[in-house]
Amino acid sequence: MKYWTLIALLTVSNSLLAADPEAGKAKTAVCAGCHGQDGIATNPAYPNLAGQNAQYLVAAMKAYKDGSRNNPIMKPMVEALSEADLENIAAYYASLKK
Ligand code: HEC
Repeated sequence: MKYWTLIALLTVSNSLLAADPEAGKAKTAVCAGCHGQDGIATNPAYPNLAGQNAQYLVAAMKAYKDGSRNNPIMKPMVEALSEADLENIAAYYASLKK
């Protein structure tokens, strides 16, 4: 295999793996009702998501999904989301200012 072919392949697979904050944002219309338009909640009952660590956010959402973090509000919110959705959503909130 030629060197440039390898570089091209690596570039493609990297872009597939990278989370997409814009795609994530598109999935957060319902979330904004509690977590705020820019990830800053107006009601202290709901945590702020803006500027949180992306890996932390993914872990939190997976935990609601599998029930290891038991929460009757959040479980249905993330139940139908794919792993890629969770990563994109996390990338979006992580990109926002605290
Ligand atoms: C009806 C209100 C409501 C909606 C809508 C909602 N959430 Fe939440 N969310 C909560 C509450 C309440 C908590 C705190 C639950 C707990 O104590 O674990 C929470 C917690 C979280 C956390 C964990 C934050 C932390 O600091 O650990 C994440 C991540 C999260 N929500 C993401 C989302 C996403 C993504 C959506 C949209 C798909 C969403 N939420 C929609 C109420 C809501």
